[in-house]
Amino acid sequence: MKIMVTGGAGFIGANFLNGLVPELREHQFINVDKLTYAANLGSLKAIDSLPNYALRRVDITDMDGVDAVFDEFDPDLVVHFAAESHVDRSILGPREFVRTNIEGTFNLLEACRKRWSGDDNRLFHHVSTDEVYGSLGDTGLFEETTAYDPSSPYSASKAASDHIVRAYHRTFGLPIKITNCSNNYGPMQFPEKLIPLMILNAVSRKPLPIYGQGLNVRDWLYVTDHCEAIWSVIQEGRVGRTYNIGGNNEMQNIEVVDTLCQIVAEETNTDVAELHALKEFVTDRPGHDLRYAIDASRIREECGWEPTETFDTGIRKTVQWYLSNQAWVRDVLSGEYRKWMDLNYGDRAG
Ligand code: NAD
Ligand code: DAU
Repeated sequence: MKIMVTGGAGFIGANFLNGLVPELREHQFINVDKLTYAANLGSLKAIDSLPNYALRRVDITDMDGVDAVFDEFDPDLVVHFAAESHVDRSILGPREFVRTNIEGTFNLLEACRKRWSGDDNRLFHHVSTDEVYGSLGDTGLFEETTAYDPSSPYSASKAASDHIVRAYHRTFGLPIKITNCSNNYGPMQFPEKLIPLMILNAVSRKPLPIYGQGLNVRDWLYVTDHCEAIWSVIQEGRVGRTYNIGGNNEMQNIEVVDTLCQIVAEETNTDVAELHALKEFVTDRPGHDLRYAIDASRIREECGWEPTETFDTGIRKTVQWYLSNQAWVRDVLSGEYRKWMDLNYGDRAG
């Protein structure tokens, strides 16, 4: 099989490729990635010289570039991760989110529609987020039938992309599947996201900026569990169907930060009180969703998927990964990253 992965140099895409490329030597993989700030070729070192893997630097908003890579590779399966993924960036600059997440997804669908006939066993797998459902109150879970109600430009752009993917199935018969997953954490995540940001800031004794009161709840899932869930849906899921993925692990942000302080202290022989003192409550994110929580019974029942990591095991592995991959971390903390830190956190004093 020929498998095209978009956004494979980002956090989840790289974990997906690192898991599959060495295992599935009989399959060919091509990674189609623009290599934005969020990409890191260091995340692909373990596979980049394998004969069944290739990278093409393509911006999915460029239809000619997309056509060229489809003509070259003729994929049987497209696993679409590429996106602008960070909510705070979508608040400070939404345009790229509309372009990449909506127009880019549309270009890929068009490339498939133009080439695939209805009977040739191909698949477009769209990787999406639970944020399309908006915010929960204190109770309840997101189900696949929950109405879309996105809050941020990021989640609105992902919601639009889900709709267009589904429309291509209903209108043109394009074989698609969609997964909507909760918050991921684990190795190789860009440190603009909560967990790696807190780990690296704690290690270098920088402030730990907590939005609002830290009471927002997220359902955390270890990244390789997400990758395995996607693979199980590709293999076992029904065409045209949506599957929610979650870790059944709801935590308030403040609990996550406190846990990280504890583990970083243990792993670096530091007094935990010194790390707790770094916590700062700062101005909240506009439109900040209160709570996400997933009902993952459909993927469990139809695809047999269950997460294998608990938060305790996954979060310790994650801290250890950031502590022992200094070169990866150094590459990421470039001038571009420092500019982002000033822009996003500069005015956010508590
Ligand atoms: P990421 O930001 O770490 O990586 C995104 C990748 O997409 C990067 O390699 C980047 O270079 C590439 N990319 C961006 N714009 C592109 C363009 N125009 N053309 C080609 N490539 C482009 O993102 P991630 O956290 O790995 O998320 C991957 C996917 O999973 C996204 O679609 C996201 O919405 C979804 N998702 C993420 C999470 C999470 O917690 N991170 C949870 C659920 C769903
Ligand atoms: O739910 C899935 C989504 O999870 C994915 O679709 C997104 O791509 C991914 O970025 C993530 O979105 P969140 O906004 O939930 O993740 P983030 O790591 O930015 O924030 C997690 C929580 O922590 C959120 O409530 C905001 C809060 N936060 C975040 C940062 C960066 C802070 O309190 N301080 C911070 O500095």
